[in-house]
Amino acid sequence: MTRLEITMVGAGYVGLSSTVALALAGHRVHLIERNIERLEALQSGQIPFLEPDLQSAFQDCQKNICIAANLTKALKTSSIIMLAVGTPPTPAQGADLSQIFAALEDVAPLLDQTPKLIVVKSTVPVGTNAEIRAFLNSRAPNALFAVASNPEFLRQGRALRDALFPDRIVLGTSEPWALKLLHQLYAPLQHASVPETLAQFRPTQPIPMLEVSPESAELAKYAANAFLAMKISFINEIANVCAATGADVSEIKAVLEQDKRIGGDFLRAGLGYGGSCFPKDTRALSQIALRGGYEFRLLRAVIEVNSEQRFRVLQQLERRLGGFRGKRIAVLGLTFKPNTDDLRESLGVDIALELQARGAIVTAHDPTPSKPEGIDFTSDLNACLTGVDAAILVTEWDEYRNANWKDLGRLMQRKLILDGRNALEPRDMLAAGFEYLGVGRKS
Ligand code: UDX
Repeated sequence: MTRLEITMVGAGYVGLSSTVALALAGHRVHLIERNIERLEALQSGQIPFLEPDLQSAFQDCQKNICIAANLTKALKTSSIIMLAVGTPPTPAQGADLSQIFAALEDVAPLLDQTPKLIVVKSTVPVGTNAEIRAFLNSRAPNALFAVASNPEFLRQGRALRDALFPDRIVLGTSEPWALKLLHQLYAPLQHASVPETLAQFRPTQPIPMLEVSPESAELAKYAANAFLAMKISFINEIANVCAATGADVSEIKAVLEQDKRIGGDFLRAGLGYGGSCFPKDTRALSQIALRGGYEFRLLRAVIEVNSEQRFRVLQQLERRLGGFRGKRIAVLGLTFKPNTDDLRESLGVDIALELQARGAIVTAHDPTPSKPEGIDFTSDLNACLTGVDAAILVTEWDEYRNANWKDLGRLMQRKLILDGRNALEPRDMLAAGFEYLGVGRKS
């Protein structure tokens, strides 16, 4: 293999997981992080967030990773500069590109006659790669460089696995030398020395590398997230129809997933999707389409269904309790999904605040010490459930799936549970003496 030297700007989920994947594949990565707290954690060998497998893998490949606060030194020896900084939503629901351009301000003066490839991993609106090219051309008119869009599709909670063994790699550039370099970068992934826990996921076939235009690469990332969000909103609507007709969404899912054209992934009904990507990227794609003069009606419906779903699901509990005012409710799970400590667009936080606003007395629990402001929090599940009139399972942590509900039920004032992720077995809950409410499920 050709061992490449890379500068990775940004040590968030995408930047850090990609850094470790490329380092495990044998490349040398300079990881640049501006945030002092994150930088210090990384320099002392600690990853700054909860992500399975990443901590031990980070330590395993430290000899291939060099961590710094700025990129001046790293850029001299790197042939590739990857941008993996955040693109948070703007108030108008577009994508805030200030971190991208702040990084380019640092890169531009360092470009010269040695060719450099600037790779955009962050999720950015269509046309951003062209904008970056124009920006660098104006700042460094004589420099040799190319820009490529190379979006990342990893999921939190399995970020390293997805970075090592992605379903596909998208190479968005029309420059032949840039394409050649990107193939050299990713070819060794297939043979990376990976943690034992991940070895079973190593693909037997080569990872597909798709060569597309920068614009298609940029849009493909939004299209993939929007499609998955659409599957979730679709199954949530089917669940709502189930609730209205007496059918059971788990049984419908079992039927749907046998159809290879449909597939079983992302068909788990529940309270809706949260997290740092789906809510932001669906709204951004809607904006991108509108700016191009097209109204993406299907996507608008996906977003609407998702924002209403939590209220629809809560209604059943409200009816059963005869209103929330004065009721003591345990909210189980605050992170937006299991195996992460990320609270961005957390349904647990939104639901706890909503219940409080409607007069309920709420205590929240989460297996991670993620304490949001304005919500009573305990990391003791028993304490959280003691004396409550009802519990709502918001995030399907194993801790809740595998709990002894018979014992936990004894602590509750009323054994009433709303399983907002259909994560528990209704029959077991009924056997444990619970009144069980699921999402589009017969109980
Ligand atoms: C997502 C995409 O999956 C990933 O490809 C992209 O790079 C970033 O955005 P992530 O946000 O980490 O990844 O998590 P994901 O597993 O996709 O879940 C997102 C949300 O959808 C969670 O709130 C989850 O609970 C919800 N979800 C997921 C469902 O409600 N039902 C499902 O069937 C699947």
